[in-house]
Amino acid sequence: MPEYTPFPVRMTEIGGLSVAELARRFGTPLYVYEASKIKERIADLKRFDVIRYAQKANSNLAVLDLVRREGVLVDAVSAGEVRRALAAGYKPGGDPPQIVFTADLFDQEAIDLVREHGLHVNAGSPDMIDQLGVVAPGSNLTLRINPGFGHGHSQKTNTGGEQSKHGIWHNQIDDCLRRADLYGMQITGLHMHIGSGTDFEHLSQVCGSLEQTALAVGRTITSISAGGGLPIPYKEGQTYVDIDRYFDLWDATRNRLSEAFGHRLSLEVEPGRYLVAEAGYLLAEIRAVKQMGDNTFYLVDAGFNNLARPILYGAYHPMAIAAAVERSLRPVVVGGPLCESGDIFTQEEGGFVSQRDLPAANVGEHLVIGCAGAYGFVMSSNYNSKPMSAEVMLVDGEPHLVRARQTFDDLIRGEQIVR
Ligand code: LLP
Repeated sequence: MPEYTPFPVRMTEIGGLSVAELARRFGTPLYVYEASKIKERIADLKRFDVIRYAQKANSNLAVLDLVRREGVLVDAVSAGEVRRALAAGYKPGGDPPQIVFTADLFDQEAIDLVREHGLHVNAGSPDMIDQLGVVAPGSNLTLRINPGFGHGHSQKTNTGGEQSKHGIWHNQIDDCLRRADLYGMQITGLHMHIGSGTDFEHLSQVCGSLEQTALAVGRTITSISAGGGLPIPYKEGQTYVDIDRYFDLWDATRNRLSEAFGHRLSLEVEPGRYLVAEAGYLLAEIRAVKQMGDNTFYLVDAGFNNLARPILYGAYHPMAIAAAVERSLRPVVVGGPLCESGDIFTQEEGGFVSQRDLPAANVGEHLVIGCAGAYGFVMSSNYNSKPMSAEVMLVDGEPHLVRARQTFDDLIRGEQIVR
């Protein structure tokens, strides 16, 4: 298990490179990723047979290529994510399959791609079994099961239980087996993902449920997936999950099933956040400092168009000022440029504005938002006609531009004036 390292409130360098220099060279707002940190997190999970990256957390092609070269396989939840995986060098097919399409429905483009490439499907709704049967009869598939309970860092990231749209309800296995039989298809694996950013206790409850369901399916099962959801500490007091303990629990479940079925099962884990969150930083420039009654506001050039987690979940992200010398701390509110009062990075769930102790800072200096590598850029938008930021990856001390900042032409591409 990695050690928790507190995020400093003053930070002049990322991976040995000057924040001010990165900002000058690539502009702000800017996402910066440290390749070495992603590799470290991959290494933490090497006891699992398969690490399958949930690319929804960060699907930049450079990130996908990096994890692929580290031996990590990939999950795709949309046709676009399938195309990204292919563009980054993943091949359809393979045993275990390099790309798995996990979703609760097929849209037309997705099912066309599944048929064209013979992609492996992890079905989250019984209807998907019939639809796959029509285009790819005789294929193997896995099922995403909703065990009837779930948990997450926010109600919005809880993916189990009857309020969740995700997965096949745990007692509908017989119906699924019948549907698969109709098309000569075999259920070769089970998968459960109960939520994101949860804790050890909740994650470990999944083992028992998956074991029961696997026994109900029977000997066709050759792989099980623990899903994703591994938390990272965004702030003091939050912890990592003890990976060795977590693996041991799953390994024991896998071994019991291997014994029951008379063949060895492969054990997968499907992290998104764990691999990329701490590797990512969002750099912004302070453009205004103002006093509103008792609150001091630092207004920066990044907003919820760049990082939506605070406004969506009241998520906490650590922050630092790139000040060369130590300065006294002051409680501040950090907000962005958008014409919307919710555009505040220091807020709690429910939209309550909170203060953060940060060094005194001036217009023109830089703010670094940490733990922004997962569900950061990928959830950004063009709200207020803001172009999407650039992304840079640091490899062996060198910064590489891995996505160019959008231009105004990119922003209006496809739009038409009607006369
Ligand atoms: N597998 C499945 C089937 C999932 O639905 C997810 C996340 C993952 C794996 C990866 O979960 P992770 O290891 O990253 O927790 N936007 C939210 C998170 C939504 C996650 C949705 N599914 C956030 O910013 O916290």
